[in-house]
Order: sequence, then structure tokens, then C-alpha cells
Amino acid sequence: MDMTIRPRRLRGCDSLRHMVRETRMSPDSLIYPIFVDEQLTGRRAIDALEGQYHYGLDSVCGAVRECVEAGVGRCILFGLPAKKDASGSSAWDRKGVVQQAIRAIKKEFPDFYVITDVCMCEYTDHGHCGALCGHEVDNDKTLELLSRTALSHVEAGADMVAPSDMMDGRVAAIRAVLDKNGHQNTPIMSYSAKYASAFYGPFREAAGSAPSFGDRKGYQMDPHNRKEAVKECALDVEEGADILMVKPALSYLDIIRECSDAFDLPMCAYSVSGEYAMTKAAAAAGLIDEYRVMCESAVSIFRAGADILITYYAKELSQAMRKGD
Ligand code: PBG
Ligand code: ZN
Repeated sequence: MDMTIRPRRLRGCDSLRHMVRETRMSPDSLIYPIFVDEQLTGRRAIDALEGQYHYGLDSVCGAVRECVEAGVGRCILFGLPAKKDASGSSAWDRKGVVQQAIRAIKKEFPDFYVITDVCMCEYTDHGHCGALCGHEVDNDKTLELLSRTALSHVEAGADMVAPSDMMDGRVAAIRAVLDKNGHQNTPIMSYSAKYASAFYGPFREAAGSAPSFGDRKGYQMDPHNRKEAVKECALDVEEGADILMVKPALSYLDIIRECSDAFDLPMCAYSVSGEYAMTKAAAAAGLIDEYRVMCESAVSIFRAGADILITYYAKELSQAMRKGD
């Protein structure tokens, strides 16, 4: 056959295939979610998320040690407080669960990079991501609570804050409060395009943060919308966000591509609990090769334009990346 162009020529062996790869992944891009439970001693398996745990304040450093051993140098913290109330006041308590966890981690692992999720839903007794006015989340009232919470995390030693509430104007509000208190150099990673997704199901079980009535459609984005994601990112850029985020990841690869092309900031993707749980369930049913699906899913997210990936598979992926898989 007379054929000068043969794409298969570059697929001959591993050495060649690895040389011409377009997407290269590094453990430096990975962030591992850690759940800290104020009322727990030791660690307890999370039923909804096979292989994941709740950690007590006495054992959170063990979780970090496992990350470090796997080559993961960054985490995002979620707190399960002992007490909840209408405004979520334990979220900004100097002795709150996340604040204590940050201090414990930083004492033992000063170089481990600690990011905190900033939201009210784990702390409010109604489970919504802000303060209520009737049955609606009051946007502007919530901004103050979020800013207070973010500041308390940074004062406890957090390296970066990541607001996940989807209130309008929260990046600007948090930036202003951090700056006023001398934390001009603490970056904000904004959950910029966060969709009202069914893929958060296992997380809400794990974090005890499901809303007690209604849903989050009044603040999180409608999955039907694409241009709105660009608008949300643009607003976050204007308000001073340092890193943008799209969430979930696998069902929103088009959004990751579009927003990472449109903006100069680093783009994070959050491969959420439902994505992880689906992979685990399919693997347990013997339907897929878990390791290969994990790797391929991560590659697709980076190929779509993500620079950073939050994933429950961070430790396993880090090892896989070291092997070149
Ligand atoms: C808090 C928050 C949620 C997730 C991250 N931060 C849940 C939600 O918005 O209901 C989801 C993470 C996951 O599903 O893995 N607002
Ligand atoms: Zn929330």
C-alpha cells in the first residue's frame, strides 16, 4: 500500500508512545479531600465512599502522612462539627474542627499545603450553604459569614481558602476581609462553576450536609448552562480569584475546556464523590478495571484543560503517575 502518513508509526512501543504524549500529569497537580470529624477518635470508614475515612482530630495527621508517603503534598479539608445552628456559627469558631485540624497538621507537617473548603452547609442545622431568610438563602448576609470563616481558617494557618457556596460576590467579600487583616498573600481558589449536581450524593452523606428541605438549585448552577459558567468565571476573575474551578469534572469536560481556554488563571477540576463512587461500584461488580478507569478518567480531565485535580483517588493516582500510567 502506498501510504506516506501512518499515524500508527507513533504507537509502536511504550517508549515512543510516552515520548509523544500530549497530556502529561504530575502528582503536584493533585489535591486530596480529608474529612475531619470533631466527635471522632481514630478514623472511621465512610460507607458511601469505599476506601475513604472520617478522621478524628487525633488521627488527621495520619491521613496526611499517608498522602505524603504517596507523593501527594496537598489536601482540602472538610469539617464535621460537634454543634450545628441556624447560622452555622461553629464554621468560624477559632476552636472549630477545621481550625484545630489545620493547627494539628501544620505542627507536624509545616510544608504540607492545606486548603480549606469554605461553606456553611456542614455547619448549619438546615444544611443549606448560607444563612436563611424564610426558605431562601440570603446572599448578602451569607457573605459576612463566609468571610469570617475564611479568615478564621487563614488565622489558624490555612495556606489557601476555597469557597464552595456559590453566593454572588463571595470572592470579593473574602478577598477584602483577608486583605484588611494582613493576608494579602493568601490565595483564593474559587469553586467558580459549581453545578447543582446529583453527583454530590455520597459527599453529603459523608459530610452530613444534605439540605433538610428543598435543594441547592437556587444558588448552584443549572447543568443545562454553558455560557453561564463563563460568566461565573469572569466574575471570579474580576473579584480577585487566583484559581478557578469547575465541578463536577467528568460530566463537565466541555466546561473545563471552555473556561480554561477563556481565562489565564490556573483551572482546577473537582472529580466529585459520585464519580468516585460509580467507579468503585462498577469495579466491585466486576464490570471495569478500576485502575485503568481511574487513570483514563484523570487523563480526560487534564486533557480537557484542567491544571489541578481534586480527587478521592489522589494517592492512587500519584503512584500511577510515578509509574507513567
Ligand atoms: C460544600 C461542598 C460540596 C462538595 C464540596 N463542597 C457539597 C455540596 O455542594 O452539596 C461536593 C464534593 C463531592 O461530591 O465530592 N458546599
Ligand atoms: Zn455548601
